[in-house]
Amino acid sequence: MKLADNKATLSFSNGSPSVELPVYKGTIGPDVVDIRKLYAQTGMFTYDPGFLSTAATQSAITYIDGDKGELLYRGYPIEQLATDCDFMETCHLLLYGELPNAKGKKDFSRLVTMHTMVNEQMQFFLRGFRRDAHPMAIMTGLVGALSAFYHDSTDINNPQHREIAAIRLIAKMPTLVAMAYKYTVGQPYMYPKNDLSYAGNFLHMMFATPCEPYEVNPVLERALDRIFTLHADHEQNASTSTVRLCGSSGTNPFAAIAAGVACLWGPAHGGANEAALNMLHDIQKAGGVEKIGEFIKQVKDKNSGVKLMGFGHRVYKNYDPRAKLMQETCKEVLAELGLENDPLFKLAMALEKIALEDEYFVSRKLYPNVDFYSGIVQRAIGIPVPLFTAVFALARTVGWIAQLNEMIGDPEYKIGRPRQLFDGSVRRDVAPIDNR
Ligand code: CMC
Repeated sequence: MKLADNKATLSFSNGSPSVELPVYKGTIGPDVVDIRKLYAQTGMFTYDPGFLSTAATQSAITYIDGDKGELLYRGYPIEQLATDCDFMETCHLLLYGELPNAKGKKDFSRLVTMHTMVNEQMQFFLRGFRRDAHPMAIMTGLVGALSAFYHDSTDINNPQHREIAAIRLIAKMPTLVAMAYKYTVGQPYMYPKNDLSYAGNFLHMMFATPCEPYEVNPVLERALDRIFTLHADHEQNASTSTVRLCGSSGTNPFAAIAAGVACLWGPAHGGANEAALNMLHDIQKAGGVEKIGEFIKQVKDKNSGVKLMGFGHRVYKNYDPRAKLMQETCKEVLAELGLENDPLFKLAMALEKIALEDEYFVSRKLYPNVDFYSGIVQRAIGIPVPLFTAVFALARTVGWIAQLNEMIGDPEYKIGRPRQLFDGSVRRDVAPIDNR
């Protein structure tokens, strides 16, 4: 049990005795008030829908300062990791707490590479889906189904099982995403190639065919690697909290990660990159840059239900540091592919400019988030829009598994069981059916 750094006193206007609650300090970030004994002491719960003020766990993995626009993985700024490291180093950092040295990196990359193939039987499982199924529908099924194929890594209480499940998940996600894509376009699956990098291998499995050699474009490889790094973890977001809650019952890691995939699918979370691109397409179809004013008007009208997708964030209230890095990558990729005049990118830039100057967005501190640009980059690379969220899931898998394993190793962890403020009917009796 932690030692309190401070104490808070909670008093009640109805004369009930006040209670003292311990307050703990983190290494950085807001202090927390420990309310675990509140119910025992007062018979009351706290009420915090959406977890606006609730720390559901302690964690040493990722830190976000939303006001400063700062994102740290294990203390390292995202800008440095995205510029000086690659995704494999980032995975090592998130999983084990430290960046690897050259040998550590080689060994870790090799370990991941040696697990990229999936059980051959998986392709028959995939065949059960309609060809036009959404890739996230396929991914929720495929990831959960891994637990039916890898029985020797399903015991969440066994540290070796946890370790091997982590490597398997990181290694196999690109293979599964590429298989989901190939299935929908009716092309043969491409087996992973061990001489390629993690991102290069994904490009190969996505875009190569058995008919001719495929050469990985290093600019696109680097861009994809950066997308993976920027999406690798984001502390206790909705899908990560889902993974923790699901895993807290002791279920196997593949099932817990499948729950994360399902949560990520929603348009308020990982589905935003797809939604942002669809929004740009719609504005483009309606008349492009000229129609931005009309669109912004709709966004500001609460009754319209229209949101500016790719804008706003629960935590970042200054800017999303990932968005800056993604914007840089966006420019590099479009230049490499000769798409600098891409109308959708120009539209995105114009929309961003107008929104950033508009009082509605300024007063609510709404800035572009990473998804505003990542969709444009992915589309330029040739990744189809419905696959965007699956690529996000691929990248976030390392964060999910690192957070899940951290929770299992935490002596204070318990099965997650939120409480409620009940506002339904009080007790009543069932009337005979003819009298209802
Ligand atoms: N367009 C228009 N208005 C917005 C938007 C937006 N994108 N985002 C927030 N607002 C308004 C909202 O209506 C509210 O206005 P008011 O105070 O007048 O009621 C105010 O800004 C505060 O917003 P909120 O909904 O209370 O903020 P939240 O923290 O609950 O929501 C969010 C955060 C990300 C769900 C929301 O900003 C949103 O839906 N954005 C669009 C979807 C999106 O891009 N999501 C990706 C997030 S980044 C990737 C990830 O980490 O998953």
